[in-house]
Amino acid sequence: MIVGEKSYQTVWMEGTSVFMIQQNLLPFKFEIYECPTYWDTCMAITDMIVRGAGAIGAAAGYAMAQAFLLSNKKTKALTIREARQDIEHTRPTAKNLFYAVDRVYKAGLISPENAMIEAQRIALEDAQNSKKIGELGAELFGRSVNILTHCNAGWLAFVDFGTALAPVYLAKRQGKDVFVYVDETRPRNQGAKLTAWELHNDNIPHVIIPDNAAAALMARKKIDFVIMGADRIAANGDVANKIGTLEKAIIAKEYGVPFYVAAPTSTFDIDCKTGKDIPIEERDPDEVLFQTGIDNNGNLIKIRVSSPGSKALNPAFDVTPSKYIEGIITEKGIIKAHNMSIKKILET
Ligand code: MRU
Repeated sequence: MIVGEKSYQTVWMEGTSVFMIQQNLLPFKFEIYECPTYWDTCMAITDMIVRGAGAIGAAAGYAMAQAFLLSNKKTKALTIREARQDIEHTRPTAKNLFYAVDRVYKAGLISPENAMIEAQRIALEDAQNSKKIGELGAELFGRSVNILTHCNAGWLAFVDFGTALAPVYLAKRQGKDVFVYVDETRPRNQGAKLTAWELHNDNIPHVIIPDNAAAALMARKKIDFVIMGADRIAANGDVANKIGTLEKAIIAKEYGVPFYVAAPTSTFDIDCKTGKDIPIEERDPDEVLFQTGIDNNGNLIKIRVSSPGSKALNPAFDVTPSKYIEGIITEKGIIKAHNMSIKKILET
């Protein structure tokens, strides 16, 4: 995607370093962050400098490649298996992370260079699959459409294009009239900060709405289509995604608004029979109790926005049962989740 005059991917690798857009600084500052070792890449995933299923998948694949490349040259004590465990402990929910680590680990058993090639291949596939999802998803829209989205499943959440936002970008390029309602997505505000920044950067008309506004807008027929990303999809079509997705799916059903999920097949986990098997990350309560923003001098600051002395609970994801999902847009086609065609499409 283009930022300023330059084309960027969210995450990439050059030599033995991994580079990424520093997402914790957006939308206030655009900076590139360098991770010289696999451990730095692990910390960047945990601290959400890079976030979103596809982007952390690519970053984790690169981290695995870094572990192979660097253990050969200097750190004898570092065993590749320990590195794999470290990478897999960074964040628990997005399947893409485990998918990428497994592929690069197996490739690296042949040679460190082979690990690097596999990690680059995963990143390339992620971008290509996202583009295909965009093409298929855009076909679902009429000439004019008002879309609701949640969190950020745009190009910042993948290597390029994104999933939930890819159809929006493609539809706009096809000359369709698209408008996006952007859920702010408390507590970290990936909607208000990242999705809004992406859409503004691409001149796509949008407004940020409070997380609790969607039902009122649907009741007033302001929303035609809901499209969201996914962090892990179970064999029965249940979808884990950013906390708040489930309630949007329920209200969409109530108001007869089609609810779609957009995700590459690398997000599916057929070892999880239902959504109950998907591990749900619980994050630091401070993300709920405090907010970050900038002051008048452009300095990034953290302020308390809750009653001192109160505790907080911070589950990062929820699970939407497949019965609420009209379809899952993948690079291989659109799956009717509740029709159980998942296994078939994964095998093609
Ligand atoms: O916690 P995050 O920001 O890594 O959450 C991931 C997400 O952005 C959403 O859940 C998204 O819809 C799926 S990942 C493309």
